[in-house]
Amino acid sequence: MSETSPLLFTEIDHVAIAVDDLEAAINYYADTFGAEVDHREVVESDGVEEALLKVADSYIQLLTPTREDSPVAKYLAKKGQGLHHIGYRVADCGVALEAVKAQGFRVIDEAPRPGSRGTTVAFVHPKDAFGTLIELVEE
Ligand code: CO
Repeated sequence: MSETSPLLFTEIDHVAIAVDDLEAAINYYADTFGAEVDHREVVESDGVEEALLKVADSYIQLLTPTREDSPVAKYLAKKGQGLHHIGYRVADCGVALEAVKAQGFRVIDEAPRPGSRGTTVAFVHPKDAFGTLIELVEE
């Protein structure tokens, strides 16, 4: 049995959903569930436009590609629309990322980097994470 680590997640920051039509998805959540846009941003380095819909202290993050070679465009072409990743809030992105590496698990980002709305983020590889793309989010 492996030793357990102290809990590094403090909240679920966001659930990210890849969509073809951002406006249609925003309208769906607003009209159906009353979830409204709290923040919108184009993250040019990732080739995505995102809309964050606030739900209590967490967000629904609707993602759409801004160019054909972005990872989200490739994801949509391969898998279609749907759940893309889970963002877990952490106190210290670097500490959480090192914890993943210390266990010998693969990461996508070797070091924390800037995310949307001023956060610091790092992605963990889904292959070692039971099929879920994990984003570590430090506010
Ligand atoms: Co995210």
